[in-house]
Amino acid sequence: MKPWKVVLASDHAGLALKRHLKAYLEKEGCAVVDVGTHTTDSCDYPDYASEAGRRLAAGEFERGIFVCGTGTGIAISANKIAGIRAAPCTHEFLAEMARKHNDANVLCLGERIVAPGLAEVLAQRFLESDFEGGRHARRVDKIKQLERA
Ligand code: RB5
Repeated sequence: MKPWKVVLASDHAGLALKRHLKAYLEKEGCAVVDVGTHTTDSCDYPDYASEAGRRLAAGEFERGIFVCGTGTGIAISANKIAGIRAAPCTHEFLAEMARKHNDANVLCLGERIVAPGLAEVLAQRFLESDFEGGRHARRVDKIKQLERA
């Protein structure tokens, strides 16, 4: 795997899966920063989506992987940030197509949904799939226009 610069974020409900993925990505040679949360104390996923999403959109990282209980709340939060295209994924095909057709830069996972082994496969597929451009670039440009609407 290419040594991606990856930012990780989670709430308390995604902490264990995020830690699992951090170890996996580091083993694969990626440079990984975890912006939190770092404890099992109950917290609010928008706070961590915000911190990680803003730093990713600013260019400090190449990709993000954000985890909450379902993958839904942290994806909704991240998608409010200009420059972030966050895709909640539960299947390899979703992770691949989120990159190929949507140029997603954040993979969102739900710890209550996705087992650790599948999460590794989804992360790998997400990181290793390239945006196809062409007609998909026109559509992604329209998404970017919505950020300015
Ligand atoms: C926390 O209980 C849970 O609501 C959160 O992790 C996430 O699943 C929300 O979408």
